[in-house]
Amino acid sequence: MRKPLRKAVLPVAGLGTRFLPATKAMAKEMLPVVDKPLIQYAIEEARAAGIEQFCMVTGRGKTALVEHFDIAFELEATLRQRNRTDALEALKGSQVEPGSMLTVRQQVPLGLGHAIWCARAFIGDDPFAILLPDDLVLSETPCLKQLADAYNETGGNVVAVVEVPREHTNRYGILKTGKDDGRLVEVQGLVEKPAPADAPSNLSIIGRYVLMPEVIGHLAKMERGAGNEVQLTDGMAKLIGNQPFHGLRYEGIRFDCGDKAGFLEAQIAFALARPDLADAVRAFLHKYV
Ligand code: G1P
Repeated sequence: MRKPLRKAVLPVAGLGTRFLPATKAMAKEMLPVVDKPLIQYAIEEARAAGIEQFCMVTGRGKTALVEHFDIAFELEATLRQRNRTDALEALKGSQVEPGSMLTVRQQVPLGLGHAIWCARAFIGDDPFAILLPDDLVLSETPCLKQLADAYNETGGNVVAVVEVPREHTNRYGILKTGKDDGRLVEVQGLVEKPAPADAPSNLSIIGRYVLMPEVIGHLAKMERGAGNEVQLTDGMAKLIGNQPFHGLRYEGIRFDCGDKAGFLEAQIAFALARPDLADAVRAFLHKYV
């Protein structure tokens, strides 16, 4: 029996400079795709994978993220008085079990590996998931659920992977691949943001991970990698050979919502997937293209 996967870490300390001025006074993870903030997509996806405890690694100016998952007592009382069951229903996904969401602060922006290390007390000795809310996946089965199922099959570490154009390898963590059955691929090495000429493959990691707690010990050494940051990818690379490590080609479409064009594409794709909006969106798109 695998140790059950119940914990998720959500690094949300980034400054969101690519979305200024929108993110001047607001966390970028609060930007909505259609009508739901990015952070809520991540929490709902985690829940659907059996996650029960959440830790957001936040920073200054991110209090809205905490508020969002609280009960908005006055709002709900007013909606109830007005019999607005539709609006009350819309609030449901933004409520979490009392005591199930913690936050820790990453006081200094030293990189993703450092952010995850900041959650070490929360992680303890348990396997844990990481969701990067910028990466949004539209799929039949929620992406993290696909990873959790793969973890139950293989044990050890599992990361979501997708083939990218070779000229984009310098944007991602890249796999050196071993045995590959077309869905699950053995990870033999990991490199953070290699130049296309140095990349061991074009199989890249997206922001969904199931990791073993031992990664924390490696991150704790605070070794600097690409961009002079403490890289999660480098910490994970140290696990290879000691524990199972697999990449999973997930089913679904990934949108990079940290990028303006990716974010806009996500708006369109998610709106078209909504029965209440699809017709209207399709109709107006014709006007522009
Ligand atoms: C991070 C990781 C990278 C991964 C990517 C997925 O990079 O460091 O390995 O491929 O997320 O989105 P970032 O996007 O923070 O530069």
